[in-house]
Amino acid sequence: METGLKNRVAIVAASSQGIGRATALALAAEGAHLAMCARGAAALHETAEEVRRLYGVEVYTDTFDVSQDDRVRNFADAVHRHYGRIDVCVTNAGGPPAKSFAETTMEEWDRAYQLNLRSTVSFAHAVLPHMQQQHWGRLIAITSIAVKQPVLELVLSNSVRVGVLGLVRSLATQYGPDNITINNVAPGYTATARVKDLAEAGARASGRSVQEYESQMTADIPMRRLALPEEVADAVVWLASERASYVTGQTIVVDGGAYRGL
Ligand SMILES: NC(=O)c1ccc[n+]([C@@H]2O[C@H](COP(=O)([O-])OP(=O)(O)OC[C@H]3O[C@@H](n4cnc5c(N)ncnc54)[C@H](OP(=O)(O)O)[C@@H]3O)[C@@H](O)[C@H]2O)c1
Repeated sequence: METGLKNRVAIVAASSQGIGRATALALAAEGAHLAMCARGAAALHETAEEVRRLYGVEVYTDTFDVSQDDRVRNFADAVHRHYGRIDVCVTNAGGPPAKSFAETTMEEWDRAYQLNLRSTVSFAHAVLPHMQQQHWGRLIAITSIAVKQPVLELVLSNSVRVGVLGLVRSLATQYGPDNITINNVAPGYTATARVKDLAEAGARASGRSVQEYESQMTADIPMRRLALPEEVADAVVWLASERASYVTGQTIVVDGGAYRGL
């Protein structure tokens, strides 16, 4: 399948590990040049080097926290100065902590908003004007199955990420005439460091062992296994590609059938 991504320029946020990393590798495999970020330098530089070695594309990197609006803007401007364009922007970040509602603090609510909703707004503000000028663009938010079906002990994620859905739907309407598509990829449990944290929190809350909790996680998924980060990345690549040129404002759930709604 020809994706049309060769020589496109793609920002992939929070991409030193996990789903972001797999997405960076998958876009580079299609020939896209990348701009990657994360807070920690060591893992980011290691992943960037791996991308260059495997696919020979250019990779621009910067280390910062995506909840810092000024850093997001500076990054996007620097990427545009460096490459002369921004075609694809994949928004991503870490997830908020897993805990029961009673345990959450107002500081954690503020942080969850900054991390998972406000950071998406920052990237959208920073990249959409460039995409408008090009009359071509793809903005893809990575969220969670929580936007369709609340996840136990993830009240912060369940609440804040729904705002991303409203943002995606609103922007898809507004930027359709600019030939920019805006979509959301919602992963179910995916085999990354994050899922280990979730299993530990879930085990603590339910009084079971981590192993028992992990078995229960997969038993509830029709495919009876976690997603691979590469399987989530493939959905992002499709949405970024020419093959999804008429798909906008949508949520693509990649969860092995875990979401039971119609
Ligand atoms: N794994 C799952 O089962 C699952 C399911 C549904 C949704 N999700 C969501 O998908 C997103 C990615 O999850 P993942 O499983 O890929 O997580 P992960 O394996 O823990 O990787 C997170 C990546 O994001 C970077 N990062 C975290 N916080 C950041 C910040 N504030 N600013 C910049 N970079 C940041 C990390 O690098 P640094 O730490 O160096 O910054 C790392 O590269 C999360 O929002 C998660 O909640 C995950």
